[in-house]
Amino acid sequence: MSDEKLMRLDMGTLDSSVHSDRPTLCLGIESSCDETSAAVVDSDKNILSHIIYSQIPEHQKYGGVVPELAARAHILAVDNVINQALDKAGKTIDDIDVIAATAGPGLIGGVLVGWMAATGIAQSLKKPLVAVNHLEGHALVPRLCATLADGTNGNVNIEFPYLLMLASGGHCQILLVRGVGKYELIGQTLDDSAGEAFDKVSKMLGLGYPGGPIVDKRAQNGNPRAFAFPRPLCDKPNCDFSFSGIKTAARTFLDRANAPLTDEYIDDFCASFQASVVDCIINRLTNALKDSRVLEASPKTLVVAGGVAKNTAIRSAMEKLAQKNKMIFAAPPLNLCTDNGAMIAWAGLENFLIGNVVREPIAPRPRWPLTEL
Ligand code: KG4
Ligand code: ZN
Repeated sequence: MSDEKLMRLDMGTLDSSVHSDRPTLCLGIESSCDETSAAVVDSDKNILSHIIYSQIPEHQKYGGVVPELAARAHILAVDNVINQALDKAGKTIDDIDVIAATAGPGLIGGVLVGWMAATGIAQSLKKPLVAVNHLEGHALVPRLCATLADGTNGNVNIEFPYLLMLASGGHCQILLVRGVGKYELIGQTLDDSAGEAFDKVSKMLGLGYPGGPIVDKRAQNGNPRAFAFPRPLCDKPNCDFSFSGIKTAARTFLDRANAPLTDEYIDDFCASFQASVVDCIINRLTNALKDSRVLEASPKTLVVAGGVAKNTAIRSAMEKLAQKNKMIFAAPPLNLCTDNGAMIAWAGLENFLIGNVVREPIAPRPRWPLTEL
């Protein structure tokens, strides 16, 4: 086979795959970190199936994700996860109209596994393929399914533009979401992400990985004023974050503590740490709401997404902030906050419907900012 033929992507065309008599069906694949996930989602916002194979137990003993182990685990799981997603949806691969997979950012070994699986399926069956930016998956999933402050849960219509707090293990950004592929960066972390701060504090306390859910739970019984954690950058007029100072403070408090730590100490520590993260998020979002670009766009909805969006205290503080600013508050349901295939399928559909499909070979990207879509 000639090099040229090897390089050509022989994907399906857009029109042949859109059916006017039924919603468009997308298979989404996620493999950028420690979850191998696949889901079948349709353009009427139905999640027909959603399989998540979590590798967390495999990484737990190392206190964090080991990229090489993750890549190998994705290889072993990916076919099975895709087949289960199809079976559970009651569909065959021929029924699927569009294939979508994370093409970055993330741990490149894992991204490659999901991306190559998706490319193989799309190319062999001549189906359209969408290269999904993982962060766009987080950013758009509330349009598939969200919980609102009034308790409404499910398919809600979150209109563009909206102001997004995107907080995950790898990212911490405030974005003005103007549309699919249209993101304006309002603020971001200068060092660690919020998720990383939760994970590191948990590790320092010997509580395990991933730290966010553990710290969240322990914080519920603790005193948020027991330890004076700093609120970095909160005296600055911009919308940026910094969590390294909070981490250093945690280390300093622990160095002064008498081991072994009591349960009460750990609960108070978690509550105080979490309160500082919440205060930083609210302070930075308050500034974002005064940013001239945000004022001019006047978003009606305040959204939180990414793994850290699972956090109870962050959700309720953001809900209050939205109320104060006469905005709607929306967050994905808990199972769609951390990495999952449904958000990739949904972002795939949103892109597919505006014609954003892969037309020539692309290389998955370990770094891929939303502002480069
Ligand atoms: O979005 P995600 O699944 O993966 C990335 O794209 O990075 O986010 C994972 C992060 C981890 O740092 C985890 O500790 C954090 O989300 N997380 C939480 C909670 N649940 C997960 N952080 C705070 N509170 C939680 N309840
Ligand atoms: Zn993620």
